[in-house]
Amino acid sequence: MVSALPPGGARAVARCDMLGAAPYSDMAGGLYRAYLTPAYAAAQRALTEWMEQAGMTVRLDPAANLIGRYEGATRDAPALLIGSHIDSVRDAGLYDGPLGVMLGIEAVDALNRAGRRLPFPIEIIAFGDEEGSRFPAAMLTSRAVAGVLEADALEVADRDGVTLHDALASFRHPSEGWGLMPRNAKTPAFAGVTDYLAARRAPGATLAYLEAHIEQGPVLEAKGLALGTVTGIAAQLRLSAIVTGQANHAGTTTMALRRDALTGAAEMMLAIEGIARDDASDLVATVGRIEALPGAPNVVPGEVRFSIDIRSGDPARRDRAAQAILVALEHVASSRGLAVAVEQVHDLPASPCDPALMDMMDAALADAGHPPFRLVSGAGHDAMAMAALCPTAMLFIRCRAGISHNPAEHIDPADAEAAFQAMLGFIRKLGESVAA
Ligand code: GLV
Ligand code: MN
Ligand code: MN
Repeated sequence: MVSALPPGGARAVARCDMLGAAPYSDMAGGLYRAYLTPAYAAAQRALTEWMEQAGMTVRLDPAANLIGRYEGATRDAPALLIGSHIDSVRDAGLYDGPLGVMLGIEAVDALNRAGRRLPFPIEIIAFGDEEGSRFPAAMLTSRAVAGVLEADALEVADRDGVTLHDALASFRHPSEGWGLMPRNAKTPAFAGVTDYLAARRAPGATLAYLEAHIEQGPVLEAKGLALGTVTGIAAQLRLSAIVTGQANHAGTTTMALRRDALTGAAEMMLAIEGIARDDASDLVATVGRIEALPGAPNVVPGEVRFSIDIRSGDPARRDRAAQAILVALEHVASSRGLAVAVEQVHDLPASPCDPALMDMMDAALADAGHPPFRLVSGAGHDAMAMAALCPTAMLFIRCRAGISHNPAEHIDPADAEAAFQAMLGFIRKLGESVAA
């Protein structure tokens, strides 16, 4: 039983495990928890209980982020935010995101049990849309909090045509505010999607943002280390392509006369892969989602939509690759009598972590008996958005074989315990630096 476990890393892991199945997942036999879905609301309900048990007061912000607040000795001092995301990719691992939230709750629980107040409040924030697995956007909720979200970014709809506006409205219960929420959570008014931008935090009102996350890569394991201090996060560009040909009868349309959007898209994808491979650097390019329409065995596909995700630690390299990809797509389209349109879903700049906070994290690792080690993150995190608001720090935790975005994702509870201890050390050091 999760509730019988003592506070700390093992309980954080067990709580992530618990959230890996219905009602916290909307996928049979695996984890899929997208933003503003029943599974998302169920996870918020569980988190509310755990946050309250840890001495926090709980609320939702206008972007439907769940926030638990633990007051500091000085009530109105800028808060330390600790968080990560509770949405997931399809058929996800259990720890990408939730572990950082659970470890934050454990840290506050430990402080609360010890009767310790810091010179600042601590808020644990469970972000909702880091993965971008529902709407054609990502990090909507952390970008809203950081104040870097444009209103037109909210004009999005999911694959079923449900707009963000409608998803927010139906997430809200007619009589109680945010309906699927526990009755005791404070609920914001909701008058429309533009309210969303009110999730923005005032500049200066946030002391720092701390995110603990599984590494999602093989470096720590290869070094034999449980933990590492993140130096920064690679720049990310997400595009969405629509290839248009002509839908036609699969039995009567001769091969020479076809304008097949799907075979054209296949050639485009190989070109994308080739551009990234030929670069032989840290450049990566991925087509992870594809949809062929009308999607029938006896119809030549008339339209194909696919995603393109391009990343590199060097933004100029990433942008050069994006240009080369656009040229290649046009070339394939014109050679096959197709049209291609590419839209930008998001462009997240590389985001360095704060040097003073990195030193503080290194010192917390050393105090907890771990050799300080620094590494860069190829994966995106809410910390990228939060860097526009305040200094950020990230702690990486070893994961088995570097596997992530996969149900085989695994972490050792002992490593989670090490992360929990390091976070407590980091919080203590931050408290000392503020008091000094
Ligand atoms: C999030 O996991 C991302 O890096 O896309
Ligand atoms: Mn992820
Ligand atoms: Mn993540």
